[in-house]
Amino acid sequence: MLAANVSRRGSFASTNADSPVADGSPLVCGITHFALFIRLFASFNQVQMSTLASPTPPETLVFPPEQSRDPPALTDIQREILELKETRNAVILAHNYQVEAIQQVADFVGDSLGLSYKAAETNADCIVFCGVHFMAETAKIVNPEKPVYLPDLDAGCSLSDPCPAGKLAAYKAENPDLYVVAYINCSAEVKALSDVICTSGNAVKIVEKVPTDRRILFVPDQNLGQWVSQQTGRNMQLWPGSCYAHVLFTQQAIERVRLEYPEAPVVAHPECVQSVRDMADEVCSTEKMIHFCSNNPAEAFIIVTETGMIHRLQREIPEKTFIAGPTDFCACNECRFMKRNTISKLRDTLRDQKPEIIMEEELRVQAEAPIQRMLEWSH
Ligand code: 13P
Ligand code: SF4
Repeated sequence: MLAANVSRRGSFASTNADSPVADGSPLVCGITHFALFIRLFASFNQVQMSTLASPTPPETLVFPPEQSRDPPALTDIQREILELKETRNAVILAHNYQVEAIQQVADFVGDSLGLSYKAAETNADCIVFCGVHFMAETAKIVNPEKPVYLPDLDAGCSLSDPCPAGKLAAYKAENPDLYVVAYINCSAEVKALSDVICTSGNAVKIVEKVPTDRRILFVPDQNLGQWVSQQTGRNMQLWPGSCYAHVLFTQQAIERVRLEYPEAPVVAHPECVQSVRDMADEVCSTEKMIHFCSNNPAEAFIIVTETGMIHRLQREIPEKTFIAGPTDFCACNECRFMKRNTISKLRDTLRDQKPEIIMEEELRVQAEAPIQRMLEWSH
């Protein structure tokens, strides 16, 4: 639609350039500009109205079975990364939403929970975390002795910002009896104020373990919190945060694809809004999506999460078809924070041993206790 707008405006500009009015006479120019303004206004409104009246649905993005495709050959930069990894004795941990080139050179690709365990267990001398800031911070919290690098320190998360530690501390001071369950997508400072951490993969299990006589405050994702509350029957106060990417999925956008592929189960991440979760055949973490799609007899699945997930699904289940969950505006949905990491930034990080996650020891120790509680409770 943006392209349509641009080209229509562009054509008006050339009409004006072709007009005989070139003498700069104020009257002629005035009339011409007025006429041009009217035409531009009409055109703009026409485009806007047609946009509102009948948005063109994005074409569905389908990833057919991969079984006949040879795995792509490694590029020079990927080979360089593997050599540097050996030299540094580094482990590369990558989230399921990373670009395919990064997933291919990673030692482990997984969800937040799996990556936390891998970070806690590693024997490598250093960790390069290809994910977002809170994930690399978590790796640092459980590995104080090892350098932890993140290829782009600006890889944040829209869930962290609406829950600053100062606000949470003030709320806790007013409500001292609250038991704080924090989704791992939050800052180290928020973790330090929490009683236990959870991921989307273990949130139900963790909340079920909270003593029943305690009132729970769940931060910072209200959608995940609402889903967990529905699964466990535990009434919880929900912090008003959300994932900017997952809330872009709408019931009508998913419904449209389901009409095209009525046999394909809808698999949605719990960060989606309730109307999308309600229509899904399965709501689960990114790691559980792999298990669900391998064990379910269906041949095609509609994947309602960040589109990078489909690389891993295709690698591990090459005989099946995956359809990207669309938003109202786009056939796929990429997290702009996850995509800040690139293959060249990963190479530079290994080569230059920076940027590094640095944390005050006092903060690290405070944030470690609720993470360790999570790791123990979710075994
Ligand atoms: P998972 O732990 O399910 O991979 O989710 C992480 C995340 O950031 C989802 O947006
Ligand atoms: Fe954060 Fe959403 Fe991106 Fe996940 S997809 S890292 S929750 S902004």
